[in-house]
Amino acid sequence: METDVASLGNQVTALTLAEPEQKIIEGQHFPLILTPSNGSLVSHLETCNWVRGQKDEIKALLLKYGVILFRDFPLRQALHFDEFVKCLDYQPFPYVGGAAPRNVVVGDVFTTNESPPDTLIPYHHEMAQAPKFPRTLFFYCESPAKQGGETPIVPSNYVYRQIKAKEPEFVRELEVKGVRYVRILPEKDDHSSPIGRGWKSTYLTDDPEEAERKCGELGTSFEWLADGSMKTVTKAVPAVKADPRTGKKAWFNSVIAAYRGWKDSRNVPEKAVLMSDGTFMKPEVMDVVERTLDDAAVDFRWQPGDVLMVDNYQALHGRRVFTPPRRILAWLCV
Ligand code: FE2
Repeated sequence: METDVASLGNQVTALTLAEPEQKIIEGQHFPLILTPSNGSLVSHLETCNWVRGQKDEIKALLLKYGVILFRDFPLRQALHFDEFVKCLDYQPFPYVGGAAPRNVVVGDVFTTNESPPDTLIPYHHEMAQAPKFPRTLFFYCESPAKQGGETPIVPSNYVYRQIKAKEPEFVRELEVKGVRYVRILPEKDDHSSPIGRGWKSTYLTDDPEEAERKCGELGTSFEWLADGSMKTVTKAVPAVKADPRTGKKAWFNSVIAAYRGWKDSRNVPEKAVLMSDGTFMKPEVMDVVERTLDDAAVDFRWQPGDVLMVDNYQALHGRRVFTPPRRILAWLCV
C-alpha cells in the first residue's frame, strides 16, 4: 500500500508490520511506521537535523495518520529523546491534575505511569478528564519488558463511529449529558495504585485549603474523608470531542479507563464514572464499548530506541501488563 512518506525526503522509508503490530483501518496504515533508509541518519545529531528540517511534514503526517512510530533511529538515551522532541518545536505540557505518579528523568522527559506491572492501564486520551490536556504525546522505549508491556493504540474517530453504530442511544445520551469522574485521592502518593497520585502532589501543595481552591478553579467538588483522603467529583465534561482542525469526533473520554481501571483500596471502578445527572453506566453497554476498542487496538512490540508520536485528539493509548523490567518514558506537549 502506498504511503506518502516521500514528502519526508529519501532519508526515511515506511515500514510495514503484520497485525496486530500494525493494522489497515479504512484503507490507511495505523500507525505509520518510519525508519531510516539504508545508511541514513546514523547519529542522533544527524537525526535531529533531519527532524528540524522536516518538522512541518512530520506534523502533517501525524494529522493524517494519528500515530507515528519512529523505529531504528539512533536515539540511544533519554537525552537524545528529549532533543528529538525539541527539534519539532514543541512546548512541554505542565503536568498538574493528572492521576498517575511520575518523575522527571532529564529535560522535559518524564517516567510513564509507574503503576504495578500486573495492572492493565485501559485505553484513554491523556488527561481526558482535565479541562486542559496535552495535544501531542511522545513515548520512548529505554528498555522493553521481558514479556508484554505493549502500549496499545486505538484510532479514536473510528471507534466513536463504531460504538455509535452499535449503541446509538447510549452515545446520544453521552454526547448530550457529558460525564463526571469520581476519585478518592490519598494524602500521599500511593505507588501500589495506578491512580495513586495523592492530593498533595496532584495540587502541588501541603495545604488543604490550597487544594480546595485549586479544585474550585477546575469546577471540581470535593469532600474530605476521615483518613485525610479527598473525594473529588469533576464537573460535567464532554465524553466526545470534535477535533478543532478536522471536525472529526473523537471518543475522548476515560469512561472505560475509569469503569474498568480506577480500582484500589479507596476506589470502586463502577462508581468512578457517571453520566452528568448521576446515572451509572450500564455493564452490558460497557462490554460493547470495551470490545469495540479491543477490536480496533494495535499492539506493537517495543524495541529499544522506539519513539511513538501520538496525536492525543486522534488516538487513545493504554498499557498491557508485563514482566519487569520495562522503562518507557514520556514527553507531553502543549
Ligand atoms: Fe496515558
